[in-house]
Amino acid sequence: MNVLHIDSGILGDHSVSRRLTAAIANQIKADRPDAKVTYRDLATSQIPHLTGAQIMAPADLAGVDASLAAEVKIGREMLEEFLAADTIVVGAPMYNFSIPSQLKAWIDRLAVNGKTFRYTESGPEGLAKGKKVIVASTRGGHYSAGPASAMDHQEAYLKTVFGFFGITDVEFVRAEGLNLSADSKQVAIAEAEKTIAEGTVLRLAS
Ligand SMILES: Cc1cc2nc3c(=O)[nH]c(=O)nc-3n(C[C@H](O)[C@H](O)[C@H](O)COP(=O)(O)O)c2cc1C
Repeated sequence: MNVLHIDSGILGDHSVSRRLTAAIANQIKADRPDAKVTYRDLATSQIPHLTGAQIMAPADLAGVDASLAAEVKIGREMLEEFLAADTIVVGAPMYNFSIPSQLKAWIDRLAVNGKTFRYTESGPEGLAKGKKVIVASTRGGHYSAGPASAMDHQEAYLKTVFGFFGITDVEFVRAEGLNLSADSKQVAIAEAEKTIAEGTVLRLAS
């Protein structure tokens, strides 16, 4: 089983989502010793923004200058890793009501017509069916209920985009209210870690 482990938080050792994705990956490895885990730290690997020049570069990269060719190859590598994974673990903090731009840059490399989706006469079709995505979602405030839920462009967006790729099995391990108080943070992390330890979100594809 291939697992792709993605982190995107910029807060290094202070990052809660990193702590949670590590716990999820460890749980998966304990449950499935055959799991091969590929790790990508999007905060340090600096994926360049998607550009028109990358999209329009010829498939064989003939005549393309070295820096543009390198940017295209990074995108292809990200896409191949994603397509090869059965389970994808994503650390996704809420930044400014949405996701880190590093995570968005990664998603921009995955959304490739003919690879992760295609358009048919009856509408778009996801081509990455059968995968499982587990998102470690962290937020400073509370968005899972109440009026602030309309401001959640993080979990809602991730569900939409993975759904567009054909992935219906998207689980969220959530720690929210992290910046409200020390107590609130401690409780939220403990609850998320309990959820991971119980293993219910993991239910892995064989
Ligand atoms: C750049 C930045 C933007 C943030 N924007 C929001 C926000 O819009 N809403 C919110 O509730 N928390 C926000 N936060 C708080 C983070 O979601 C929270 O601290 C989270 O724990 C950080 O992620 P991490 O600990 O998983 O790395 C923001 C934090 C940072 C660093």
